[in-house]
Amino acid sequence: MALSSKITGVGSFVPERVVTNHDLEKMMNTSDEWIQQRTGIVERRWVDANTSTSDLALKASIEAIENAGIDKNDLDMIIFATLSPDHDFPGAGCFLQDKLGVPGIPTLDIRQQCTGFLYAMSIADKFIKSGSNKNILVIGAEIHSKGLDRSPEGRNVGVLFGDGAGAIVMSATDVKDGKADSHIINCHLHCDGSYAKELWLPGPGTGFNSENRCDQKMLDEGLHFPQMNGKVVFVNAVKKMSQSLINLCKESEVKFEDIDLFLFHQANLRINSKLAEMMGIPEEKVFNTIQKYGNTTAATIPLGMHDAVKEGKLKPGMLVASAAFGSGFTWASSLYRF
Ligand code: UT7
Repeated sequence: MALSSKITGVGSFVPERVVTNHDLEKMMNTSDEWIQQRTGIVERRWVDANTSTSDLALKASIEAIENAGIDKNDLDMIIFATLSPDHDFPGAGCFLQDKLGVPGIPTLDIRQQCTGFLYAMSIADKFIKSGSNKNILVIGAEIHSKGLDRSPEGRNVGVLFGDGAGAIVMSATDVKDGKADSHIINCHLHCDGSYAKELWLPGPGTGFNSENRCDQKMLDEGLHFPQMNGKVVFVNAVKKMSQSLINLCKESEVKFEDIDLFLFHQANLRINSKLAEMMGIPEEKVFNTIQKYGNTTAATIPLGMHDAVKEGKLKPGMLVASAAFGSGFTWASSLYRF
């Protein structure tokens, strides 16, 4: 028997407001046809003005805790992946912990963008395997809409992202049969910071030749909006996600054909089709949600996980592979029996 961690509860939440590509046509110099053809996105969700990232996370967390069949007071840690925290500091985990009403337990914010949730899952797995923690709440939540350039010039990035949250509870488990029992099998985490400026949010920040971390010049130059070199990101996403997953499966002695479901990050439907094609994965084994949510960064994988459970496509005992890629560049892959 070996001490391990498994996913015991999943929850998600998306804001009610649906923003279609046609809605964006009225704000930006774009078209439904372009967005669907180049990305697969049809619509996304945007919050209203009085909602924060920890508000979305709270709703997803309550559902995950309920589905795990534990009391919130059984949690002994919160790990929160987001690039769009309520405030620069303290971390979004602190705000969520207060709203959830579980004072005293440690909280940790993960700043690894689209890869954040897989980093968070891997860290939770290691805390649990060390024997120090039993029930960790792991969240990915984002509010992109408040940070996008929604002017006619904002189309490069503005059409891609949406708001949402997903949460899981990871709990300690004794694994008797490493092949059959539900548990996290293996995770690989990666980063190459030499690509940091290919997809980033420059301001506000201390990385400017300025005495202030936020000034009018930064705002005038639009440095508070995300900037992306889409083609470089696209090519690297396909390359790095496939490499990571191939290596992970090899190391874990798992064959692709034995994997029941692939829950990839959702940045572009064409990225996921290319991944499936390169790795010989049947398209029906890849669960995509980008059509209805856009790219929700750290929220994407748990949001997809919850939708897959609701649609009966993800069932206990299934072997699942996830891979993600994003700003940093960061990328990761994970294998788990659900
Ligand atoms: O989660 C990780 C983060 N993000 C990603 O992984 C994204 C990876 N990259 C991509 O998904 C794609 O590169 C994009 C969807 C961002 C862009 O698709 P693309 O096929 O690489 O298009 P492009 O950037 O080469 O642009 C093609 C044309 C350009 O016009 P010209 O120069 O050919 O006249 C763009 O200005 O499409 C134009 N364009 C748009 N047109 C209408 C760019 N964005 C838009 C838009 N609506 N929203």
